[in-house]
Amino acid sequence: MRVGIFDSGIGGVSVLKSLLEARLFEEIIYYGDTARVPYGTKDRETIIAYSLEALEFFAPHKIDLLIIACNTVSAYALDILKAQAPYPVVGVIEAGVLALQNKVQDKNASILILATQATTKSQVYPKALHSLGYKHIDSIATTLFVPLVEEGIYEGEILQSCFKHYFHAISTPPRAIILGCTHYPFIAKAIREYFGGESLLIHSGEAIVEQLKKSFELPTLSTPSKLSFYSSQNNSTLSHQAQTLLSL
Ligand code: DGL
Repeated sequence: MRVGIFDSGIGGVSVLKSLLEARLFEEIIYYGDTARVPYGTKDRETIIAYSLEALEFFAPHKIDLLIIACNTVSAYALDILKAQAPYPVVGVIEAGVLALQNKVQDKNASILILATQATTKSQVYPKALHSLGYKHIDSIATTLFVPLVEEGIYEGEILQSCFKHYFHAISTPPRAIILGCTHYPFIAKAIREYFGGESLLIHSGEAIVEQLKKSFELPTLSTPSKLSFYSSQNNSTLSHQAQTLLSL
């Protein structure tokens, strides 16, 4: 199976990492729209337009499945992509919700959702969690984390200032934190430490393997997936950064 992975930039590599470990696909083609990242500050129409252009990118690659490794695109454009693409399209939000369900059974647990401005505005996570019976849900749009991760900043003073800026009003560490943007797993260690190591951190990469195995009846392969990277600008930069992140 030849699979496409799409994100606005480098964030989808957090999902790619889980997929590579699981050895589900013969070939994986990663595409990051690095010329136009971030998507999380854009409006609905723009996010949809950019996402449809990603389908054009994948057309000559003859993929069998497209994984939208971007919460922002999954929140706004998944249904449209599913309707337009001649192959199945899978987003990451369902997997994120599944990962939380697997780890947190207590419906009274405090859950904090961190996501981009657009994903936060869409309310996809709180809606899904409320419908499952979770009662204490907070959301913060931590938009600045995306450019920091794109810049290769995963720790240090600038990140700590951002944490203070976004988290100053939180007095008790939440029971669980949903990393509702695929860029955020790369700063998970710093987020965990900021909250004193007391919160469970959840991301979609954890559950997407399970979800894909079930939906597409995928066996585990004996050889690693063949991997290629593409981006809308500076191909070698994305590829280099991705290789570094995969080895972390
Ligand atoms: N990594 C993406 C997400 O999961 C998008 C981040 C952005 O481009 O703002 O939402």
